[in-house]
Amino acid sequence: MRFGHFDDAGREYVIETPRTPYPWINYLGTEEFFGLVSHTGGGYCFYRDARLRRLLRYRYNNVPTDVGGRYYYVHDGGDYWTPGWAPVKRELDRYECRVGLSYTKVTGERKGIRAEVLYFVPLGTNAEVHRVTLKNTSKAAKSVKLFSFVEFCLWDAWDDQTNYQRNLSIGEVEVDGSTIYHKTEYRERRNHYAVHSVNAAVAGFDTDRESFLGLWNGFGEPQAVTEGRSRNSVASGWQPIGSHQLAVDLAPGEERTFVFVLGYVENPVGEKWEKPGVVNKKPARQLLARFQTTAQVDAALGALRDYWTEMLSKYTVKSGDARLDRMVNIWNPYQCMVTFNLSRSASYFETGIGRGMGFRDSNQDLLGFVHLVPARARERILDIAATQKADGSAYHQYQPLTKRGNDAVGSGFNDDPLWLISGTAAYIKESGDLGILKETVPFDNDPRDTATLFEHLKRSFHHVLHNLGPHGLPLIGRADWNDCLNLNCFSETPGESFQTTGNRTGRTAESVFIAGLFVHVAPDYAALAEATGFADEAKAARDHAARMEKTVLEHGWDGEWFLRAYDFFGRKIGSKECEDGQILIEPQGYCVMAGIGVATGQARKALDSVRDRLESAHGIVLNQPAYQAYHVELGEISSYPPGYKENAGIFCHNNPWVMIAETVIGRGDRAFALYKKIAPAYREEISEVHRLEPYVYAQMIAGKDAVRHGEAKNSWLTGTAAWNFVAISQHILGVKPELEGLRVNPCIGAEVEGFTILRRCRGAEYRIRVTNEATGKPARLVVDGKPVDGTLVPYAPAGAVVTIECEA
Ligand code: BGC
Ligand code: NOJ
Repeated sequence: MRFGHFDDAGREYVIETPRTPYPWINYLGTEEFFGLVSHTGGGYCFYRDARLRRLLRYRYNNVPTDVGGRYYYVHDGGDYWTPGWAPVKRELDRYECRVGLSYTKVTGERKGIRAEVLYFVPLGTNAEVHRVTLKNTSKAAKSVKLFSFVEFCLWDAWDDQTNYQRNLSIGEVEVDGSTIYHKTEYRERRNHYAVHSVNAAVAGFDTDRESFLGLWNGFGEPQAVTEGRSRNSVASGWQPIGSHQLAVDLAPGEERTFVFVLGYVENPVGEKWEKPGVVNKKPARQLLARFQTTAQVDAALGALRDYWTEMLSKYTVKSGDARLDRMVNIWNPYQCMVTFNLSRSASYFETGIGRGMGFRDSNQDLLGFVHLVPARARERILDIAATQKADGSAYHQYQPLTKRGNDAVGSGFNDDPLWLISGTAAYIKESGDLGILKETVPFDNDPRDTATLFEHLKRSFHHVLHNLGPHGLPLIGRADWNDCLNLNCFSETPGESFQTTGNRTGRTAESVFIAGLFVHVAPDYAALAEATGFADEAKAARDHAARMEKTVLEHGWDGEWFLRAYDFFGRKIGSKECEDGQILIEPQGYCVMAGIGVATGQARKALDSVRDRLESAHGIVLNQPAYQAYHVELGEISSYPPGYKENAGIFCHNNPWVMIAETVIGRGDRAFALYKKIAPAYREEISEVHRLEPYVYAQMIAGKDAVRHGEAKNSWLTGTAAWNFVAISQHILGVKPELEGLRVNPCIGAEVEGFTILRRCRGAEYRIRVTNEATGKPARLVVDGKPVDGTLVPYAPAGAVVTIECEA
């Protein structure tokens, strides 16, 4: 069952009913100011850091769901409603929500009034713009009242939810005509405030929540709205809000548009005040001046559209399969951009107060993002590398505002360092910018301890070699990619964090997954070493990789599949000898991606085992059998009820590893079948089962052991976005930037007969036409009319157009 439809020409998903199976959200903002907005107008926004610079308050896990947002209430002769249906939930005659690229447009109509609210963050702007249009669709003249509403967060979202001793007494605002200034804590150390304004004279306002709502009312029945009368309240402590009231007279057929701006403003520390106690409003006025007219707003929206058109032109496919095309051309890269910007900080499943940017996460996000804006990828790589420690280990997370490693979580996830090599290699392949390796980057943000970026990669690589266990496999540390495989944790205390608790410190628990990752990154690392003039290091790296490959085949192979790990006691994890958790997905995908066991047939065996033991109707589950009970020696993985999350859930992040692995052994039909099982556009028709947005991936779909098999959780901020883009664009459709040229080698099986791809890379354009006979063998290429050997097309100079005929 569907709840809307894709509008591919408009690059929108059109939600047709507010009663979606869960709030379906979108992200606003492309650079520094971001908002989350649901299809009813719920959500919040922040400047750079969802925890430390939160503008709006939001109530996670509330009842009803999705409470708090930027609401517009229409009061029409005693009848009142909200165009997004919630929070008032008055029935609408018409409802539609268009989820677009960095904007959302909600339209509601009731009893002859149509209200359309467009939410977006203009480029280069630290503010949301809400363009609100009211139209009289009836035959009679109407006088309606429009109320805006936002509730301010007192900046630090964690403190805001916990420190009521202080917080109920510090709220402060200023009201100046149609503009509300939220200035809590500005009197002391902050030099920033929020501004909320409308480009029309107001008939009233409120800035105190209780005055607007009434103490006993929720957002569905604010007393100012039900009575049609603002209180003109000026907040003093308690909960500051921003609400404007507009009186709008509309002749039949007439429409009027208002522009609301909700922004973040900073003053230089020495210029905070206009006069004692009065904030310096100059920068706010400059901001508002840019959005005074509808024409200005429309121009900003047009610029945002152009921005996306340009970005999405880097890789486009025409395959005849609309679902495939819309994933590759629109929604998957869009999600990659959002994950790049926000890592795992703020979604409807991440509160914005728990995690900043992940070291592992952000590096993987780069894999799907580098082609969109390589310059921003470059900056990100340098930021991430600056949080690495001198011994090559890495802080697991850092705060986007401070760009400092997060001490509360610390380090010790032994896969982390290697992802820096993957992310950097992907960037250099896309851009050709080997110069980045010569950049000077500090360790742990300490300007006294610096090295080249290449030296950082070297420490990453050698960190693994300095931390090998009894079998010669990499030590796992706190965990590897699977944050829940906590082999040194041994936690018996309720509530203890599985990720930061280490009750045993033995150097015994080893990860076959990290071994696979190591072998996978080694060729890239060696090539970068060579290109930087370190031929000896390149050779050494290749030798280490060959040795590790041997070790995996010797100690990491279980007979029919790759083992997952050795625990603290040296016992096997992910072996036929185990009672539960006999096979886990991660090493099957990654080891084959690294080429391990391809020549010997073990790769094929491992992937057959995945098919036979882990595959379900909704994707590949993480492990089988699911752990039935808590194992203190395994940690969080065994804490989940069977079928959920890391305990046999379908982790959409690692499914693409298996897809890529299938292409490594030439089974394109398998790869594409697996792709379609989890790609949201293909799951749209079972939205009542899947429940989350049909336009973006979720981290997890409940596995076959779960009560709610097929139900997704944790949409939007997941490495799933980047990895599925890599799988489909580089391996299945088969156009992949390498250091020396563009690799063209599709492997998609017989279902898609042929397709064309337009790829822009390093300033040149590649027009690729694929005739697909699904041979499972390397493709044959004719480049600019000449047959060539192999599948690598050397990079053409910027401005060139290269035509490639490909038989696959
Ligand atoms: C989740 C993991 C996540 C980890 C770290 C666990 O509870 O299951 O998916 O990576 O927390 O936040
Ligand atoms: C989500 C985390 O963000 C990611 O880093 C981790 O690899 C997966 N969960 C698996 O545990």
